[in-house]
Amino acid sequence: MQEQIKASKFIGIPTPRIDGPVKTTGRAMYSSDHSFPDLVYAWPTTATIASGTVTRIDASIAERMPGVLAVYHHDNLGQLYRTPPAAGFSMILDEHRPPLEDTTIRYYGQYVAVAVASTVEQARAAAEAVKVTYAKTAHDTSDKLLGTPLSEPRPKVATKRGDTAAALAAATIKHDAVYTTPTETHNPIELHASVAVFKDGKFTLYETSQAVVNHRDVLAAMLGVPPQDVQVITRYLGSGFGGKLWPWPHSLLAASCARNLKRPVKLVVSRSMMFQSVGHRPAIDQRIRLAATSEGKLTAIEQDYVNHTSLDDDYDEGCGEASGFIYSSPNVLVTGGLARRNVGTPTSMRGPGAVPGLYALESAMDELSLKLKIDPVQLRLLNEPEKDESTGQPFSSRHMKECLTTGAEKFGWSKRNSDVGSMRRDGLTLGWGMAACTWIAARTDSEATVELHQDGTARVICGTQDIGGGTYTLIAQIVAHETGLPLDRIEVVLGDSSLPPGPISGGSWATASVTPAVLEAAQKAAKTLLITALGSADTPFKGKKAEELELVDGTVRVKGQSSGAVSITETLKLAKVKAVSGTGKSEGTFGNPKEKFSSHSYGAQFAEVTWQPEIARLRVSRIVTVIDAGRMINPRAARNQIEGAVVMGVGMALFEATEYDQRTGAPINASLADYVMAVNADTPDIDVTFLDYPDYNLNPLGARGVGEIGLAGVAAAIANAVHHATGVRVRNLPIRIEDLLTPTHTA
Ligand code: MOS
Repeated sequence: MQEQIKASKFIGIPTPRIDGPVKTTGRAMYSSDHSFPDLVYAWPTTATIASGTVTRIDASIAERMPGVLAVYHHDNLGQLYRTPPAAGFSMILDEHRPPLEDTTIRYYGQYVAVAVASTVEQARAAAEAVKVTYAKTAHDTSDKLLGTPLSEPRPKVATKRGDTAAALAAATIKHDAVYTTPTETHNPIELHASVAVFKDGKFTLYETSQAVVNHRDVLAAMLGVPPQDVQVITRYLGSGFGGKLWPWPHSLLAASCARNLKRPVKLVVSRSMMFQSVGHRPAIDQRIRLAATSEGKLTAIEQDYVNHTSLDDDYDEGCGEASGFIYSSPNVLVTGGLARRNVGTPTSMRGPGAVPGLYALESAMDELSLKLKIDPVQLRLLNEPEKDESTGQPFSSRHMKECLTTGAEKFGWSKRNSDVGSMRRDGLTLGWGMAACTWIAARTDSEATVELHQDGTARVICGTQDIGGGTYTLIAQIVAHETGLPLDRIEVVLGDSSLPPGPISGGSWATASVTPAVLEAAQKAAKTLLITALGSADTPFKGKKAEELELVDGTVRVKGQSSGAVSITETLKLAKVKAVSGTGKSEGTFGNPKEKFSSHSYGAQFAEVTWQPEIARLRVSRIVTVIDAGRMINPRAARNQIEGAVVMGVGMALFEATEYDQRTGAPINASLADYVMAVNADTPDIDVTFLDYPDYNLNPLGARGVGEIGLAGVAAAIANAVHHATGVRVRNLPIRIEDLLTPTHTA
């Protein structure tokens, strides 16, 4: 690891996005913006049953419709392959079956054919005119999960220490309840889209991808071509939230159509299809059992979760992500199981595992605090662990207690009267609730190259992508820090699988992952520049060694001497060199069993709700969030991430749920009108505080990255506040007004 970097004119400075101007002027090219002179459009035909077999496809009418070039289905799409088992963190996708591979229908909305035509309207009309005959069988889209048959006969043990059964039997203070969270659908403003170009045997694929390198490898394997024949490009992404991490079947459809027709093909997944075939957070049931001493020391944490998955794929939500280390407890048992349903394959959605897991655990902790008559903040402080008790590792950097105490102070928690419904303001009943949270911090492998050009600019290339979180800007900040060049002289090129392989934009890991590689690349480029400065015949640094020079403020100079400094441009001109470059490479920590530290980010969420029982009006009025996520490279983008995540948490608590019509198996609220999300009008006053503890175990800047941590704990904090206001404990998200009108299970 390189030396720690503590002071900088660029790192840690709130910085407007360098990609802001191209986005606000409409010049940023999103995937579906790519167009070509002979481009044609594809539109899928989707299954209108959730289980059964296609017995006949009649495309004769569709094929004769205006502008139609082809209709492809199981018999004529062409060969597609499955991916081989991958080594390590590569070749990842959630729905493993290539589209149209067979005639079995596993879920409503599964692709059964695809029409290609000169215009999108013609393609859609043709796709809808394809006559599909089915032999229907019974489907199951039920969201009752705990206690139903699992994919494996026994639940998987995710975490285990001590003997929870004995501790629960012996305890006098205990809590036992089931919490449920519904299917949630990612709704980034940008729809999934693929524009596939096939030329001279090679594919250029403009994709909506949070991981262009993985996307290339998966598509190459499934198309049956070498990876060097596939290039995946995602210059800008209109958010993904995990839904765009891994390839989905539409990408294969577009590439296959392009190969068959030798024409560029555009396929944009419609909003309703986004609820069917590009992943979702699965429905989850969780039973939480807690035991504690009367002083409030936890003696047992037991968590048993079941999430739904599709018929063919094993998507595990991993709800126990945080349960093994968030609190000190001698006895912990987390078990998990998968229940198969006729649904599309689920996938990661912002904070997978920890977010629904912490909704349940942190609601249960609130219920336990009431039984113990111990303040909820105090209960968490009482159970702060010294080390990661699930692995025995020391924490890389953990400041949970300070998150809790700082949050309590900022929120005014000491003024809380714990009696239900006792607090009022302006005629409204107030509810105050809180929750703790945590999210994994890790690095994945990354490479990057930095070039310094004779025209006085720098160019950075890295095969990662900016999904809206600010990666372009933070890479420029790091290069500015190393070279002293201003941000507007630094070009950052991302979102292309042909660049040096970069990390996925997922897990909130991209920042931590690219940082060491970009730093090293910039340092090597700078070193080469210094050697170049000495190599020219007219060097102003005659007799000096490279070690005696430095690159500061975009100039080469003798260390510590501002006089006699020579600009990068002049240095390269004297040497008659167009550009120098350096490449950096760093290895990931994710999944490495030899890691010395338990690395996570921490936080505390405090929520205020207002409740008007007379008109059944519930609002989230205020959130105070305190985040311990290492050093913020760009506090401005980081704050934006946390604010967005908090708003998503309001949606998770109060609105979001994908409803399957049990009669047809169709997700029925599959539109932005019917799938209710938090909007600006639902946005509370949000107070974001970052604790500034750089985590140098992860990289020389001490950056861990943010995003998902801002969502973790928010739903529990709101549910706990709702209980404080109303006396109703809602254990099934989302919290609906009708839950509050007819108390069924008050605690
Ligand atoms: Mo995130 S769910 O890892 O994009």
